[in-house]
Amino acid sequence: QATSIPADNVPDMEKRKTLNLLLVGALSLPTGFMLVPYATFFAPPGSGGGGGGTPAKDALGNDVIAAEWLKTHGAGDRTLTQGLKGDPTYLVVENDKTLATYGINAVCTHLGCVVPWNKAENKFLCPCHGSQYNAQGRVVRGPAPLSLALAHADIDDGGKVVFVPWVETDFRTGDAPWWS
Ligand code: FES
Repeated sequence: QATSIPADNVPDMEKRKTLNLLLVGALSLPTGFMLVPYATFFAPPGSGGGGGGTPAKDALGNDVIAAEWLKTHGAGDRTLTQGLKGDPTYLVVENDKTLATYGINAVCTHLGCVVPWNKAENKFLCPCHGSQYNAQGRVVRGPAPLSLALAHADIDDGGKVVFVPWVETDFRTGDAPWWS
């Protein structure tokens, strides 16, 4: 009973609360907008099922639908898509015609040229200074000092391919990922 408020005070109280809410809302609106990129940046990677991740985009800027992609990209195919942070990233079709669970960042670890896939050589060959990477993007010839970066290539509930940052051990080298 000690907390009961005289009835005639209530309307004022409500009015004051409403004003406070409006004030706080107005002040925090710009901050709210600015927080959005940070919030998505810090979203836990690989949270699975519920989403997260950046949709892969094809050359036309459309989302990549895994099933559609596999109709037009055969075993062994490596085709560039737009990946995390806009980096050109290869989607890989495995020899059993499934989509690989990893994408390969095409940015050469030497000086940043985009490295084309050479099907005949079964390697990525950098045209700038001759670095070579095997079919999984592991560096096999310098001057590039490091393997191409990886990203997880997941398929979301809608069948879209989404890239998720790769923070685990690099399966090609057994090392910690240099890019994360
Ligand atoms: Fe690729 Fe120099 S940028 S070898």
